[in-house]
Amino acid sequence: MCGIVGYLGEKKATDVILSGLEKLEYRGYDSCGVSFFSNIDNQFITYKDKGRVKHLVEDFNYSLVNHLGIGHTRWATHGKPNQVNSHPHFSRSERFSIVHNGVIENYKELTAKYLPHMKFISETDTEIIANLIEHFTHDLSVEEAIRKTLSLIEGSYALLIIDTTTPHKLYAAKNKSPLLIGVGTDGITLASDVMALIGHAQYYYPIEDKTFTSVTKQANGKYTYELFDIIGKPVTFKLLKIDMVLDEIGKAGYSHFMLKEICEQPSVIRKIMSKYMENDTFFVSPSILSMFEGIDRVYIIAAGTSMHAGFVGKHLLENMPKIPCEVFIASEFAYNPPLLVDNPLFIFISQSGETADLRACLVNVKEQGYKTLTITNVATSTLAREADAYLEIYAGPEIAVASTKAYVGQIVILTILAYLLAPRKPFDLHLELSKVAVSMEAIIDKRDYIHELVKEKITKRNCFYIGRGIDYFTCLEAALKLKEISYIQTEGFAAGELKHGTIALIEEGVPVIAIISQSAINNNTRANIREVTARGANKLVISLENVSDVTDEIILMDVHQLLTPLVTVIPTQLIAFYSALDLNKDIDKPRNLAKSVTVE
Ligand code: AGP
Ligand code: GLU
Repeated sequence: MCGIVGYLGEKKATDVILSGLEKLEYRGYDSCGVSFFSNIDNQFITYKDKGRVKHLVEDFNYSLVNHLGIGHTRWATHGKPNQVNSHPHFSRSERFSIVHNGVIENYKELTAKYLPHMKFISETDTEIIANLIEHFTHDLSVEEAIRKTLSLIEGSYALLIIDTTTPHKLYAAKNKSPLLIGVGTDGITLASDVMALIGHAQYYYPIEDKTFTSVTKQANGKYTYELFDIIGKPVTFKLLKIDMVLDEIGKAGYSHFMLKEICEQPSVIRKIMSKYMENDTFFVSPSILSMFEGIDRVYIIAAGTSMHAGFVGKHLLENMPKIPCEVFIASEFAYNPPLLVDNPLFIFISQSGETADLRACLVNVKEQGYKTLTITNVATSTLAREADAYLEIYAGPEIAVASTKAYVGQIVILTILAYLLAPRKPFDLHLELSKVAVSMEAIIDKRDYIHELVKEKITKRNCFYIGRGIDYFTCLEAALKLKEISYIQTEGFAAGELKHGTIALIEEGVPVIAIISQSAINNNTRANIREVTARGANKLVISLENVSDVTDEIILMDVHQLLTPLVTVIPTQLIAFYSALDLNKDIDKPRNLAKSVTVE
């Protein structure tokens, strides 16, 4: 996972790198490091340690003039998060310094074959790369040695490489893990995400897999960059304009990104409507709609929160255009695919568009010649680029590791798609989505009340969400949100299933949060609430007005019954947020997680 940033230019490299790493910390944050060339005493300096970028910024000395450097914020895959395992890593003689995002699958085999006697300093899979490059420079030029190393390593990598003997050059390479090159008036930045380029580059290019890049400060002071494939053939590419501004990635006065992103959701709905409407009617490119012609079934592939949005999408596709749909956990589908129908369409749902589990499935189904569509928040992402087509969510950058507004955005896109595919339109979508935005606003405005409810109800180390039908999907998402940021063990349960075993866990004071948005299941779910309260549960009911009871704790303004997941999820996000706040947890960066899961 991790975030990497490299810079060669007129600015102070450590300023660009450290501010970039702070923006990329959502990708991994168990350790971090930076290497830069000090122009004063002509040597490379490295600081790295366990912990956050804040520590790196505050505890080391960056007063030296420096214009070339690389940095890394890590999500450990091989070896503990500690100082030694933090990146950058060096070759034996310390000639090469590298940062790496990804996993080298054959590092043990390569070590045995090429460097059997070498004693490595760290436990990482990364150190072999620096050492192989150095090893091959005994016979080859640096660029040839890097390309030779790339031809041998298997797995995923975004790499930045410094050769300490040429402090006017920066090398990079990429396969599977994301890497962008940013071109500014006074230098070149390389980073895992466009966010780290803002302010330093006006144009960028998402580097393709198996591509090698070299950036050079020429004798005339100009910065040049070239892209090659692995055998050294130049690659042609077209730069894109960066249209994001710094404000979009700030907290805008909120205490946490997550709270900001929860509160942004009504405006996300309105923004998506504006992006997908033409002349007052909803519009999706005919070429995308035609992908659904003649298909037998849609397979939705996703992970985590995006998979929960997929469950809602299944409900929408099966209820509006009546297209059969199945939802799969990406990491399961990749290695245990079901028996497929003859004419499937695959929809990949991903906030980041970089999730490795999804990409493994995408590559696989594309090889089989199937049609693929990605729904993502990042139009430049790998999954957007590599699918046959993509639909952008337009939720704006989502920084908190816990996904909120992207989930809502994914459901809105799926709603628009299902609506446009439906031969008979079941309602006025513009009107109904507008009502959703208003209903969301009403509950967000009452967030202090939800905070009070949290203090009163969420008092145990465990918790249950129960619901039926479409509410069950929201329960799954609600449970994931609460556990991932508060570490309270939470299960989302089909309300009727509880009595088949799990009810044994209900004891005095255990919070059970029920979601009721549909009249068809109202009585049944209420019967299940009685079953748990009879056994001591501390109940909290979230309902819509038309199915509410006066004893319900949270009553939401009515919306169309197919759109209820968009509003019932809002109080659950707030419950998760305030539970984590009261427990003093690191809400935007929960432990062990990363925003963009680029390892399988
Ligand atoms: C969301 O709160 C989670 N952190 C996580 O489940 C996430 O949804 C999952 O990793 C998928 O990410 P993606 O949408 O970027 O593919
Ligand atoms: N596999 C490398 C490590 O464990 C890189 C992990 C990352 O992408 O942060 O150090």
